[in-house]
Amino acid sequence: MKLTSKEAKEILEVERVNTKDDSWITHSLCVGNTAGKIAQALKEKGLTVDVDKTIAFGYIHDIGKKFIEESGVFSHAINGYNYLKELGYDEEYAGICIKHSFLNNDIDCLSNDRDETDRSNPHYQFFKEYIKKEYTLEEKIINLCDLMCTTQILTVEKRMIDLLVRHGVFAKTHYHIVVTMKLKTYFDNLLSYNLYDLFPEIKDNL
Ligand SMILES: [Fe+2]
Repeated sequence: MKLTSKEAKEILEVERVNTKDDSWITHSLCVGNTAGKIAQALKEKGLTVDVDKTIAFGYIHDIGKKFIEESGVFSHAINGYNYLKELGYDEEYAGICIKHSFLNNDIDCLSNDRDETDRSNPHYQFFKEYIKKEYTLEEKIINLCDLMCTTQILTVEKRMIDLLVRHGVFAKTHYHIVVTMKLKTYFDNLLSYNLYDLFPEIKDNL
């Protein structure tokens, strides 16, 4: 079953009533809206991209946080994946709950590894295989936008600093930053302009 952006937003708004701290919901809306603007701009450049699906991916990517707000990378990913599968949504919608956390099709490319790269984690092998295939354009947009949004839109540079300040520096931090900057450049090149031009309000958040 497909998930429209409208339905995804409705799922989020139901959770806003249930959650103690709705900042993850505001973040999810920011990711979806930011992703939608980038997708639309790419479409206008002639690329094949499903704008509504991209927005839906953004809205739903952190839905696993409805179970435990302060959950780690692996737990919020698997909770979101299982939840959307149980609701009957297509694999790609459940899959974004896992894929958004890992760049470069690599389980080691994540923003912080805290206790997450524990290879004894029951989901480690599943995730490692699951993210191996090249991501779609829609999925790559979510990768980027998750790294452009807290509860508001930021440059990836500022978002990287936000992550460093909140979580600290880990063994894979440098690798993750390098790949993130490459991803930003990848979209700048597809657009043939700096994607920050799409978001004039970004300078108010520097
Ligand atoms: Fe997120």
